[in-house]
Amino acid sequence: MSPPSAEALARASQALAGGKLVAFPTETVYGLGGDAGNDQAVADIFAAKGRPSFNPLIVHLPDVEAVERYAVMDERARQMADLYWPGPLTLVLPRRPDAALSLLVSAGLDTVAVRVPRHPTARALLQASGRPIAAPSANRSGHVSPTAPIHVREEFPDGGGGRLALILADGRCPVGVESTVLDLSGEHPVLLRPGSITPEEIEAVLGPIQRATTPGAGAPHAGLKAPGMLESHYAPGLPVRLNALNAAKDEALLGFGPDRFVLGGAERLNLSPTGDLNEAAANLFAMLRRLDKPGLCGIAVMTIPDVGLGLAINDRLRRAAAPRP
Ligand code: TXA
Ligand code: MG
Repeated sequence: MSPPSAEALARASQALAGGKLVAFPTETVYGLGGDAGNDQAVADIFAAKGRPSFNPLIVHLPDVEAVERYAVMDERARQMADLYWPGPLTLVLPRRPDAALSLLVSAGLDTVAVRVPRHPTARALLQASGRPIAAPSANRSGHVSPTAPIHVREEFPDGGGGRLALILADGRCPVGVESTVLDLSGEHPVLLRPGSITPEEIEAVLGPIQRATTPGAGAPHAGLKAPGMLESHYAPGLPVRLNALNAAKDEALLGFGPDRFVLGGAERLNLSPTGDLNEAAANLFAMLRRLDKPGLCGIAVMTIPDVGLGLAINDRLRRAAAPRP
């Protein structure tokens, strides 16, 4: 674990060049990064996470010019990029046939997910390494996403089987939930994953968008799943109960807004006592981790309004509460 000094960034770049993995902060969550042009490094990302299926990964790039080396941007993509890059927006775009990217990054699809992050340390790493960086969230498959460097170390106590060379440690992630994933590879824009850039904001630019009805529809195998079936993800060790009006004596309570009249809860935390959705998103994953304690029997979560950033928070919470495999 190193603060993002010039020396650490140089070490991180060398590690990426050598096919090793580096964990780094983005404005959303910490990413587990590898050289997106290196098949073995990309395969190592899947192996380190213990991802059962080869879900495609997001390629992180420093700017629009770099994006256009790998993906085809149309007018819609340019408009969204102008407004929201650098920032927590991922676009799924047609992949250039000559893109110097591992095929595994797209999991065999003819599209690629690209994003230009805003976090200064992510930007510094992209500049220093000069490589496209493939990065899912830096957690074991199915677990709660990391929003602080210590979470990454907890997820990979053995350094991902020696694959993870370095954690660039730079405090807490300001947004706290993963980027909005918008598919612009077809005729109609489709929201594949809600995030801090809301459907309303996207529709103000592009007009009506479709919303993926099946959670996890971004995954290529999603079509095989029963519609409406929730995939367990973002799951703490304890069971999660939603829309709680109170908590049992041996439950933890995760509140939102005023919670004075909510009874129970051996441990209590509040995502945002004032009911601020930005604050709630930034606290979500860290508070789920803190409440995930032995001796408790579950985490009861109060209702979060299903508007704006609340859509992204509820998407993550529903999966945290989904039946475990
Ligand atoms: O905020 C974020 O996006 C973080 C940070 C590290 O940048 N990364 C992240 O990556 O959340 P990951 O791998 O957990 O999520 C990638 C999402 C998945 O839902 C995946 O199915 C979708 O993007 N995706 C990636 N490539 C795709 C493609 N070619 N077509 C459709 N969906 C794709
Ligand atoms: Mg993830």
